[in-house]
Amino acid sequence: MTSGDHKYLPYGRQFLDEDDIQAVSDVLRGDWLTTGPTVAAFEDKFRTVAGSNHVVSCSSGTAALHMAYMALGLCPGDRVIVPSISFIATANGALYCGADVLFTDVDPDSGMMRAQDVLDLIDGLTPDELASVVAITPVNLAGEVAEIEAINSIARQNGWKMIIDSCHAVGSRYGDGRGVSRTAGDCHFADMEVFSFHPVKTIAMGEGGAVTTNDAALYDKLCLLRNHGMERNPDKWTGRGAGKAQPWYYEMQHLGYNYRQSDIHSALGLSQLKKLPAFIEKRQKLVAKYDALLTDMSPHIRPITSAPGHGAVRHLYVVLIDFGALGTTREDFVAALSARNIGTQVHYIPIYAHPYYRDKYGELSRPGAEEYYARTLSLPLHVSLTEDDVTYVIEQIADVL
Ligand SMILES: Cc1ncc(COP(=O)(O)O)c(C=O)c1O
Repeated sequence: MTSGDHKYLPYGRQFLDEDDIQAVSDVLRGDWLTTGPTVAAFEDKFRTVAGSNHVVSCSSGTAALHMAYMALGLCPGDRVIVPSISFIATANGALYCGADVLFTDVDPDSGMMRAQDVLDLIDGLTPDELASVVAITPVNLAGEVAEIEAINSIARQNGWKMIIDSCHAVGSRYGDGRGVSRTAGDCHFADMEVFSFHPVKTIAMGEGGAVTTNDAALYDKLCLLRNHGMERNPDKWTGRGAGKAQPWYYEMQHLGYNYRQSDIHSALGLSQLKKLPAFIEKRQKLVAKYDALLTDMSPHIRPITSAPGHGAVRHLYVVLIDFGALGTTREDFVAALSARNIGTQVHYIPIYAHPYYRDKYGELSRPGAEEYYARTLSLPLHVSLTEDDVTYVIEQIADVL
């Protein structure tokens, strides 16, 4: 097949089947479009996938981050440590609370925050800055799991809370220091973890997100924050209805939001979760195929580093390309692949380089993040891709170069 004949391969997209459409239709024909039983059913199912005690679903990964930061009581004067490489929402959620962020460097070969990056950041802080740090949010980039155990140990030594941004890591597994296999979302090394179910992610809901936690008090707080801060439990009322049997009564005790997930979205998510084992198998097969084909292109093109034996479920297939050594630029390379119907994307521009952050914190530069950003490109990875499509992508890359 010539390159012009090949169907367009986006870098990511949802995989939906008739069961998904039926599940959504069933909800549309039922009584509850929102705050109904399908939301609870999705949360129940996701709890078994993530391995946490509690799940609070919500309207997006961004809402999940904002709720998690609010649940920690983050406020002006507080600081949160985030990696320089992530989607902007990881940092924005802290700013929504009036807090500030501090950017660590990242591993240039994986794009992820390492424990050493955190220690290096601490070394450069004034005592006042260090005292203002309330939380740290490592990101499980592309579905790989960061050094969360070592980072959690630094967090505990410093009295910080930890949120893991696992928006890319639905279904990913990781090994702890004792060799126990764990699931992203189990909150073994975090107070909360956040997920996104945007269509390019591992399961699609249209828009959707969730926070997982093992902490009952955080769970209660997250439930309130998701729903305007409205307290409906009579035992907790302190206002006019306290001690009275008033079935209409609720009271607002916190400033919350409408971050609820509808039953329509939950129906799609629940149906998608039933297919998660098959999605995982397919994604891992495609990643293995890419990895095998790319060995011939090393060292100028190679995959991001992957912790051996972890069982990561890749949301993205990220390669690191030495464009200079190959005599090209990323702009030309992306355009050449696009002409051959291959979609790509860059994950991510260092957050500190966005004009908003540059204006807020001045010109920053982290060497590992800059090196990662200069080389990173995400190739197509999604469940409807075939192994032949992967071969096509790699053949076209070889041809372009
Ligand atoms: C790492 C990361 N965090 C947070 C988000 C925000 O998720 P959502 O798009 O569902 O708001 C995304 C989405 O792309 C993400 O990639």
